[in-house]
Amino acid sequence: MTNSRPELHTCFSPALLRLYDAANAIVVIVDVLRATSTITTALYNGSKYVIPVDSVAKSIELGKQIDCITAGERDGRIAEGLKYGNSPFEYPRSFVEGKILVLTTTNGTRLLHMAIDKGAQQIITGSFPNLTAVSDYLLSANKDVILGCAAWKDRVNLEDLLFAGAIINRVKNKFHINCDSSQISETLYLDARNDFYEFLKEKKASHFQRLLGYGLEKDIRYCLTPDVANVLPFYEDGKLIIHNG
Ligand code: MLT
Repeated sequence: MTNSRPELHTCFSPALLRLYDAANAIVVIVDVLRATSTITTALYNGSKYVIPVDSVAKSIELGKQIDCITAGERDGRIAEGLKYGNSPFEYPRSFVEGKILVLTTTNGTRLLHMAIDKGAQQIITGSFPNLTAVSDYLLSANKDVILGCAAWKDRVNLEDLLFAGAIINRVKNKFHINCDSSQISETLYLDARNDFYEFLKEKKASHFQRLLGYGLEKDIRYCLTPDVANVLPFYEDGKLIIHNG
């Protein structure tokens, strides 16, 4: 009997993206701490669109060409030469509404550009703040899915796996899943779901500890909260815009 359900895979690191067939799939870029949480927050708060760029130089260059907010992060801090960083709290409605946000980050926007280079059929971004928007879209799209974890400099991050697991837990009945990375992600999610923050703390998750060291507990707690910025960022013509319908 042939299986007509679409396939779902979880890719733990940008270094593994080459193993997956992005050209025939929706690639969900997952960078829970914090790029994809910040992107959905900026759009939820009324940003016109977000331009994800892969270098600080491009962000600065675009800032000279168009009226926009140039933002970027390297190693968890505001990138040198840019005024704004990658905290969701930097983009309240009072600041970001109606504006274009140009953003570059260490891992999240890097993976997004890798997915573009691989010719991904569709690219969306996922994080806990838009968990339901992402899972609803994947349930309705009826296409193969790659949950692409941005990780940290190609090394696996627990928090991205927790989000992948949360998605899998919601959508698995509609997909054919023959992927151990997806099984691992859902197992971790089921173990952590009562308190993601405590789970990451107990496991000494590396980027969690890095951000905590910078005094960013508030960012972490926000980025682990489901559905507080529940829109679907969709990549089209160089921009991330809210997908409607
Ligand atoms: C990234 O893209 O590497 C991150 O979102 C890092 C961060 O700002 O926490």
